[in-house]
Amino acid sequence: MTLATTEEQLTGAAPVRFPAGFRWGAATASYQIEGAAADDGRMPSIWDTFARTPGKVFEGHSGDVACEHYFRYRDDVALMKRLGLGTYRFSVAWPRIKPDGSGPVNPRGLDFYDRLVDELLANGIDPMVTLYHWDLPQVLEDRGGWTNRDTAYYLADLATATIARLGDRVATWTTLNEPWCSSFLGYGSGVHAPGRQDPRAAFEAVHHLMLGHGLAARALRAGGAREVSLTLNLTDVRPLSPADPHDQAAARLIDGLQNRLFLDPALRGQYPQDMLALFERFGAAGVIQPGDEALIAAPIDLLGVNYYQPALVRAQVGAHSGEAHPGSEGVEFVTQSAPVTAMDWPVDPTGLSELLLRLAADYPGVPLMVTENGAAYTDVVEGDRVADEERIAYLDGHLRAAHAAIEGGADLRGYLAWSLLDNYEWGYGYGKRFGLVHVDYATQRRLPKDSAHWYAEVIGRNGLT
Ligand code: FCB
Repeated sequence: MTLATTEEQLTGAAPVRFPAGFRWGAATASYQIEGAAADDGRMPSIWDTFARTPGKVFEGHSGDVACEHYFRYRDDVALMKRLGLGTYRFSVAWPRIKPDGSGPVNPRGLDFYDRLVDELLANGIDPMVTLYHWDLPQVLEDRGGWTNRDTAYYLADLATATIARLGDRVATWTTLNEPWCSSFLGYGSGVHAPGRQDPRAAFEAVHHLMLGHGLAARALRAGGAREVSLTLNLTDVRPLSPADPHDQAAARLIDGLQNRLFLDPALRGQYPQDMLALFERFGAAGVIQPGDEALIAAPIDLLGVNYYQPALVRAQVGAHSGEAHPGSEGVEFVTQSAPVTAMDWPVDPTGLSELLLRLAADYPGVPLMVTENGAAYTDVVEGDRVADEERIAYLDGHLRAAHAAIEGGADLRGYLAWSLLDNYEWGYGYGKRFGLVHVDYATQRRLPKDSAHWYAEVIGRNGLT
């Protein structure tokens, strides 16, 4: 009896093969791994400020040092090569490239990404560059941040400057990572930088982020980008009682705030009516100028999907689902009966297949890529090993779900695990570990976890046993 047969009998899972050319990789983000916060002309971002604000981040952790990737990138790329990654998704730090946000380019900031891109290509790894993964220059926040329309135009300027330097070698570009988090966690609930708590500001931020996406997408295209994309954190939102019209309405509203508010303008050129009503209600409708929606709908070649967990909601009089979902009074998020990760996030891969199939049905014609998926667990280092079988099970389940969506007709082109390395998990600081590779922050030693070895085998055989 082969090992595969045993596994199959144990788990009930059949072997799966991904389509030829399926892109495999991993993702990171600048502030979460680079460190070198004051090197070569980098100025503070909103996350440097937020991390220094007492009570905002777990134990006051900051990204000052992080994984020292800025200095150790060669070793990290060597590690990626050993794992067989074909694609590496990373973000550039705006405050390195344009330290005063809107002014002159700092060539030393771009030099780092130039070196990184060369190193990746020399090792046969495709770079995928995200322009904005949350590290807005603090000087721009001082001028209103994403509530200021100018910020959208400055993002386009960042796109122009970055592609001018890297565009001869980088084919795939992403404008934004998860504008829902930037707007509703940054300006709504305030659990992310800049830590504001104002629903009007949150909706203004939504629009200026999406306008920035459209403008940056055009700038990237003009700069010769072969593939332009947008990455959203999308959620499969389920009504507790599927047949109950009140629960259905609750799910529809949360689906609006999490998904349609971003998908519809980007892919259909229009905000949904129910979301426009919320812009109105919170006094933010004035920021949407004639012609903006057409700008936001700049064609994209790839939609990046970050998926971690589904949401379960119900209608409940008097419930308040929190500042991250303004306008959702009467909606309650229900605890799901599923195992949870160290983030307390329920593990349910069916949410990923349902989401991908829904995207294929409702927004046809846009190739999809899972640009983040993964899990934090309480990893234990024993000698030279981290036996993280829960993470392997998480990844295995979600890859099977992704494969099921492909079988069902979703045009899924690739999968990127979050994350290559343990890193700075925003408000949770270094307290949550999402990496395939363990990082000892005292010594900066990298130790591939069992999940890294497992993932390398998955990539090698383009499938699961
Ligand atoms: C996503 C972020 C990413 C990481 C994961 C766990 O929302 O894009 O930076 O923090 O969650």
